[in-house]
Amino acid sequence: MRINGTTIFIPGATSGIGLALAIRLHDAGNRVIIGGRRTELLADIAAQHPGIDTIRIDTTDAASITTAANEVIARHPDLNVLVPMAGIMRAEDWTTPGSFLEDAEATLATNLLGPIRLISAFIEHLLAQPDATIMTVSSGLAFAPLRPTPTYNATRPRSISSARRCGCSSKARAWGSSSSCRRRCRATSSPDTAMTRQRCPSMSTSTRR
Ligand SMILES: NC(=O)c1ccc[n+]([C@@H]2O[C@H](COP(=O)([O-])OP(=O)(O)OC[C@H]3O[C@@H](n4cnc5c(N)ncnc54)[C@H](OP(=O)(O)O)[C@@H]3O)[C@@H](O)[C@H]2O)c1
Repeated sequence: MRINGTTIFIPGATSGIGLALAIRLHDAGNRVIIGGRRTELLADIAAQHPGIDTIRIDTTDAASITTAANEVIARHPDLNVLVPMAGIMRAEDWTTPGSFLEDAEATLATNLLGPIRLISAFIEHLLAQPDATIMTVSSGLAFAPLRPTPTYNATRPRSISSARRCGCSSKARAWGSSSSCRRRCRATSSPDTAMTRQRCPSMSTSTRR
């Protein structure tokens, strides 16, 4: 990814890592648009950092994503980077019936479905842009899970693997649609089953390992 001269949307940047990243990228010479639900923070950030644009978005709400995506693309037709940063982490006790399902569903909606919907909303636009990049967010907890946050742990490796596992370029519209992508699929060395053949349909059994 180019780190200057780009136009970057970061939904989930009213605080924390997203805000710090937004300010650094803005200071480095990028046009930055931040999103989140807390409109008072959006207004404060816009006032403190002239040039940073803001938009209200709730990434658990499909309609909100569509509205915000249309607005961001209309305001910034050269947008070429999406960083789906919004995330939540809630402690869950799976041994206490009735206590964790709501939090688990909210975590899935925010951390996993949200980025997928965001990518769906922006991908057509991004495919037409030079140097287009989607930067997903992972966590060390994907690799060393924290016991009280099982759903959070599970959502973070999915988030990164969807973008990185095959490493397809933004022009490769589907997994397996380019030779470099097929090579990477082979390198993942999964067992040869109906499910894995679906992932890389152009690979024959004999080429898998
Ligand atoms: N902190 C860490 O150690 C760590 C480590 C690895 C990965 N991460 C990941 O990094 C990301 C940021 O974490 P953080 O620690 O900076 O957390 P944070 O300070 O709590 O920031 C979370 C951001 O996500 C936004 N957000 C949450 N739910 C949202 C929703 N439904 N719609 C839109 N925006 C939403 C929040 O904005 P609003 O509340 O205004 O909507 C806020 O801007 C998360 O995805 C997290 O999983 C964090």
